[in-house]
Amino acid sequence: MSRFFDRVYDLSRDFSRYLDPEGDPARPYRVLTIANNKGGIGKTTLAANLAVYIRAMREDLPILVIGLDDQNTLDRFFAFDSQPRGTVLSGIRAGSFAEIVCEGQYGIHYVPSCNDIGAAKQAVSQIFDLQTILAETGWRGLVILDTKSDFEVLTRNAVFASDLTLVVVKDQASLIQAEKVFNLLRECGRSSESSRVILSMVDRRIKYQEAGGIDVLELLTAEIRRRGYPLLESFVSHSPKISALETSPSRSLVPALIGAPRSVIHRQLHHAAHDVLKLLDRSGLPVDHGDPPVGRLEQLIRDRTS
Ligand SMILES: Nc1ncnc2c1ncn2[C@@H]1O[C@H](COP(=O)(O)OP(=O)(O)O)[C@@H](O)[C@H]1O
Ligand SMILES: [Mg+2]
Repeated sequence: MSRFFDRVYDLSRDFSRYLDPEGDPARPYRVLTIANNKGGIGKTTLAANLAVYIRAMREDLPILVIGLDDQNTLDRFFAFDSQPRGTVLSGIRAGSFAEIVCEGQYGIHYVPSCNDIGAAKQAVSQIFDLQTILAETGWRGLVILDTKSDFEVLTRNAVFASDLTLVVVKDQASLIQAEKVFNLLRECGRSSESSRVILSMVDRRIKYQEAGGIDVLELLTAEIRRRGYPLLESFVSHSPKISALETSPSRSLVPALIGAPRSVIHRQLHHAAHDVLKLLDRSGLPVDHGDPPVGRLEQLIRDRTS
């Protein structure tokens, strides 16, 4: 038993069934968590776009997006106008999201975000609470957890509940913060297969003369390798298209697949989604749920732009 479990758990409880979520072949869902303590580095943008790209690439895979943040960015990506039946907070309090899952745009399901994330944090006490709530929710397919830019109880729950954690890194500051996520994963006994650094908002025009003219991508990649962190091969550039899609007359946010289908960022997100899917498949992502197809990448683009 590691120091971590000694610290976090009431050892009189039987929590052994929570310790190895990868080990249960009957579990009908897999969890992808996006995390880093540092804010403004593209976590939520990645969570929303990966959901849309994965949905388009795997048309029979139901996707549930949950934002553990008090910002309503994900709602702006996915919500239709209807009145939600509840939020992340009411779901946590009820011990299941089943009653409040909403059908959103692009065939993505989501749980509406809450305004009072402090109350949501207070509603969880143990690191495995969210994992239990997800099990109770009974989702079949993929759950994507977008975390707040902190390393508090909800974020740690989301990392603990994950089959794959994407640790978003944009710069040196976010790389330093990544250590917290990797330490937690190690203390939970997770293998390196269960996490990847994903480089986000990379601007290759940034170069370092003092290091032989290497750019920021090369610098961060070398530093990540030196630290021994597993790195996703695909990365996402800083893109003015993403900024442009952030503000629209309808006030909704538009994924790159729909708003910038012929751009570099589209290709990069497509590659990233492909690589993430491969890892999720290895973790036992369920297939064939008989959910109605929403159409392939090209079909989605045509539907939206015609
Ligand atoms: N690849 C990108 N290129 C340019 N701007 C981006 C990119 N990814 C995110 N952004 C912008 O950066 C800001 C922060 O992104 P967000 O996804 O909310 O970060 P986080 O969730 O880590 O706080 C937003 O304004 C978003 O539109
Ligand atoms: Mg965010």
